[in-house]
Amino acid sequence: MRIFSGIQPTGDKHLGNWSGGFRQYAATQDRGDDAFFCIVDLHSITVEYDPEELREQTLDLAAMLFATGLDPERSTVFIQSHVPAHTEAAWLLGSATSFGELRRMTQFKDKAERQEFISAGLFTYPVLQAADILLYQTDAVPVGEDQRQHIELARDVAERFNARHGETFTLPAMIAPEVGGRIMDLQEPERKMSTTGGTPQGTVRMLDEPEVVRKKFKSAVTDSGSEVLRADDKPGITNLIEIMGVATGEPLEGIESRYDGAGYGAFKTDVGEAVVELLAPIQARYHELRSDPRELQRLLARGAEKAREASDPTLQAMLDAMGFVRSEFGRNFGAARPREL
Ligand code: TYM
Repeated sequence: MRIFSGIQPTGDKHLGNWSGGFRQYAATQDRGDDAFFCIVDLHSITVEYDPEELREQTLDLAAMLFATGLDPERSTVFIQSHVPAHTEAAWLLGSATSFGELRRMTQFKDKAERQEFISAGLFTYPVLQAADILLYQTDAVPVGEDQRQHIELARDVAERFNARHGETFTLPAMIAPEVGGRIMDLQEPERKMSTTGGTPQGTVRMLDEPEVVRKKFKSAVTDSGSEVLRADDKPGITNLIEIMGVATGEPLEGIESRYDGAGYGAFKTDVGEAVVELLAPIQARYHELRSDPRELQRLLARGAEKAREASDPTLQAMLDAMGFVRSEFGRNFGAARPREL
């Protein structure tokens, strides 16, 4: 099965990214999937950013992807801007995406509210994301719940393109984890955990020191009552039970019965400890990998080579189907080789 997913390099990575992203990526390897994981640096320039930080954070994220279990022998990890087909395909797909569809994207509305300068790139962001996915003839996209609307858009765009120009793309499906597809902020459990949109104290970063992690869980907001049980009117404790579940792999019912009558305090301490244990080996591997940027660059260059090879046939099929003149001489639009006529 062909898998594709992407993750932005800007903003510190957090427990939500691990639960909806990293954890699912590594799981595809055990299933023997043919998987591509993309550091989407081109998406990161759609809001205000610092170029020097982008450069550093791109390598930080590469180290984190390998530290959370991606094996360069089994998965292809690469940087989006190393594969020009992504931007080329995004322009082409713009013709099959409507203004109305983009205007309905909740992520655009949320992010636009927080920006003084709302870039055109922020608006067309989902078209680039559709290009990322469709170029690889992707069967499934592992993501967290917050990406559902974007994946549905990619599917709609693929269907429209196929209907207009003939079968070109595989229709991608989304894979979200049953538990932990939407990890919430520890201080404000009505909103998702996020470095950009959440509270600093309610966001557990992948690189937080153990003491910081413990403190964040101890001060996590809980709800009225004292039962460790999931309920719609108990978003705080429900979130903590889910975090415990994803950190330890234990079924949620088991956690609830184990903490029957234990009270919130003891439970919060234990969730913090479980997360410290989860993060410790990842942090150790991360620091080791990050200390050798040349090796990271080498792995990413190899990934980009594989990604170029895998995406080029789709880009060529798009160009053919859309009626562009294909020249025998020199380089066509895209990474085209001269074609037999
Ligand atoms: P990004 O970089 O915001 O997030 C990366 C992954 O982390 C998941 N995630 C969460 N999961 C559970 N709980 C949370 N609180 C939480 N916060 C983030 C996200 O769902 C995602 O899986 N637009 C995408 C990047 C992208 C992409 C793609 C994804 C670009 N092209 C193609 C898939 C396929 C984004 O900004 O993810």
